[in-house]
Amino acid sequence: MIKEKLISVKEDALEQIKSVANKDDLSQLKVKYLGKKGEITAVLKTLGSVAPEERAEIGKLANLAKEELEKAFENKLQELNDSIFDQIKESEWIDVTAPAQKAKLGKLHPVTQIQYEIEEIFKSMGFSIFEGRELEDDYHNFEALNIPKDHPARDMQDTFWLFGDKLLRTHTSSVQVRAMEKTKPPFQGISPGRVFRYEGIDASHQNTFYQVEGLMVGKDISVANLIYAMKTLLKKIFKKDVKVRLRPGFFPFVEPGFELDINCLICGGKGCSVCKQTGWLELLPCGLVHPNVLKLQGIDTEEYSGFAFGLGLDRIVMMRYGIDDIRHLLSADLRFLEQF
Ligand code: FA5
Repeated sequence: MIKEKLISVKEDALEQIKSVANKDDLSQLKVKYLGKKGEITAVLKTLGSVAPEERAEIGKLANLAKEELEKAFENKLQELNDSIFDQIKESEWIDVTAPAQKAKLGKLHPVTQIQYEIEEIFKSMGFSIFEGRELEDDYHNFEALNIPKDHPARDMQDTFWLFGDKLLRTHTSSVQVRAMEKTKPPFQGISPGRVFRYEGIDASHQNTFYQVEGLMVGKDISVANLIYAMKTLLKKIFKKDVKVRLRPGFFPFVEPGFELDINCLICGGKGCSVCKQTGWLELLPCGLVHPNVLKLQGIDTEEYSGFAFGLGLDRIVMMRYGIDDIRHLLSADLRFLEQF
């Protein structure tokens, strides 16, 4: 009687285990059959009423049934776990062999690219890079450059005045002054950077633009050194030999002062609309450093002389790539910038 009961409980349990769909139901079922108050345990508790000669056989049978059920629960648990992983594999799979999405790389702005090129060219000629500040004072931007207050030359550089004697630097010549304060001659360096002028904006003028100015101070520095440095720079930037000419130009901090023109790169000097049929393009101002500027920094002008120049980086970029409007450069328009 008890034997049959045991077998039927076991069969029922096996049947139910088969149809269980999740782990919670399975553990409840396990408690129902194998728990302390479970059905198999209940059957075993009635062993006392079995005739002693049958007890050993039924006890053995009960243990076998318990083992069989435990095994069945274990297998079912494994099966449920596997199916959970199968579901995850199905819903969250990634194809590790699929080609990765390429990260979109940014680029340096064309002005920065040319600035770095120019820095390399001058470094190869033994020049240092002088770092400066954009917020300047009247002394370093004007007075130390032989442009006293009320001098008409101040009108050449319309200025964003801030508070007191502070201003946004109108050129990077101010960096040269700071370099001279710290360095004893001989020295040579360039100062690239952003400058600001209170200007009307048009195709070739911005109120915020970039310059590279340069200064070389040493013994016997002459216009020949200046021309050599400029020709080396231009040949490397434009990747061809460039003819230059000097015209007189006035800047209070140089004497003599020049405007350096280059032979028009578009027409080769024959005359075209870009060079206004002259064959020449005005490129950069330069000259020999005015003795007043050197003396103010305690440099003995009997022993030392120097040259200085200042070029507009934006205009160089425009000439190299044939860009007809300076406003593109500050436009932040990726369709334009991605071309460089
Ligand atoms: C100066 O700034 C002098 N400090 C340069 C110099 C240094 C002369 C040493 C002599 C010796 P200028 O104002 O011309 O000079 O400016 C130099 C260059 O900056 C110009 O040739 C031009 O390429 C560029 N530039 C001037 N104004 C603008 C502007 N509004 N927008 C874009 N580029 C400009």
